[in-house]
Amino acid sequence: MKKFKLECEVNGKKVKVEIDSSLRLLDFIRDVLGLKGTKEGCGEGECGACMVLMDGRAVNSCLVMAVQAHQKRIVTIEGIHKHKYGAQLQESFVKEAAVQCGFCTPGFIIAAQEILSKNPKATLDEIKEGLAGNLCRCTGYENIFRAIDKARRKK
Ligand code: FES
Ligand code: FES
Repeated sequence: MKKFKLECEVNGKKVKVEIDSSLRLLDFIRDVLGLKGTKEGCGEGECGACMVLMDGRAVNSCLVMAVQAHQKRIVTIEGIHKHKYGAQLQESFVKEAAVQCGFCTPGFIIAAQEILSKNPKATLDEIKEGLAGNLCRCTGYENIFRAIDKARRKK
């Protein structure tokens, strides 16, 4: 198996580790770093449960190879509270009952963080459009949209 010396930053901490070059970013985060907040749903880029920020852009980590994170900044749900909107989003999701089983929640919060940091004035329609790649089987989505809209207005 081909090895690769990966250097990146994860939730503000420098990481230097030799990995198997065929590892997905999702497996690197969950299995090598032990950050289990990032979930695997479909494994095919369809559900958004595995979303993380890579240099500020929300990516489905099941579709990204870990080697692609070389020299990049990764933020997972465990580190999102340190970013503008992150802590507010987490609080709003709880207050607005936007979390049921919670499986989709990390991905929604990561996606919302990207939407709001790129467009602090995002309308509800723009928020909905931005979340088109995130699926939730439990909530019916309305509570999620409302939670994100509230987090936006509180900042
Ligand atoms: S697990 Fe990556 S998009 Fe579904
Ligand atoms: S809260 Fe269960 S999938 Fe969204």
